[in-house]
Amino acid sequence: MSEAPHEAPIKTPAQLIAAIIAGFAVPVIIIILLAYYVNNSTRTGAGTDSLTDAAVGERIAPIAQVAIRDANAPRVYKTGQQVYQAVCSACHAAGVAGAPKFSNTGDWAPRIAQGFATLWHTALTGTGAMPARGGTSPDDYSDYEIGLAVAYMADNSGGKFGDPPVPAAAGAAAASGAAAASGAAPASDAAAASGVAAASGAAPASGAAAGG
Ligand code: HEC
Repeated sequence: MSEAPHEAPIKTPAQLIAAIIAGFAVPVIIIILLAYYVNNSTRTGAGTDSLTDAAVGERIAPIAQVAIRDANAPRVYKTGQQVYQAVCSACHAAGVAGAPKFSNTGDWAPRIAQGFATLWHTALTGTGAMPARGGTSPDDYSDYEIGLAVAYMADNSGGKFGDPPVPAAAGAAAASGAAAASGAAPASDAAAASGVAAASGAAPASGAAAGG
């Protein structure tokens, strides 16, 4: 009648005490670790925490900004290249809507043949799909700067106009600007015409260049 001996893992009182302590301590440690684990991720709030400061700044930035210019400051003219890249290239780089393409001598030869003054005038008044002044305002680009852009385009497309001469004095430039602005009512033609009159009057040299 021998029975299989019962093998209990705990045989001494010391082992019993160790087992009881372990029985409490191990679950407690596991729970603490789990709590750390769950708590560990960075939490973002439902509101602004979810956006970076930069993104928030961008969202709340005012839509309109005011650029203050000193009307009496000596005028700094943009170069023909700058005006071309900022304005004219939108159409003339790819030849949009039949615009004579930049550096395409075939497109430009018949236009160049009209002479610089005519091209300048056309650029100021617009023709067909070509908006007056490339769609800019006289406040942004003066007649002279539009002229520079015309010369830049034409001269990079087979022309030899050279830049139109700088308007005589800052005062004259301001006056012509004012005239253009005041005439800018509906009669944009008149404004442009006056601009060109001033321009061509001021530029006998450009007439000569255009002739050549
Ligand atoms: C919205 C498109 C557009 C922009 C912007 C534009 N042009 Fe034009 N441009 C045209 C088109 C289209 C023509 C061809 C018009 C035609 O021959 O009927 C043209 C023609 C011209 C001509 C030739 C005119 C002639 O007598 O044959 C000149 C010069 C010219 N543009 C200058 C400029 C300058 C300078 C700018 C920038 C300040 C500019 N354009 C910006 C569309 C544009």
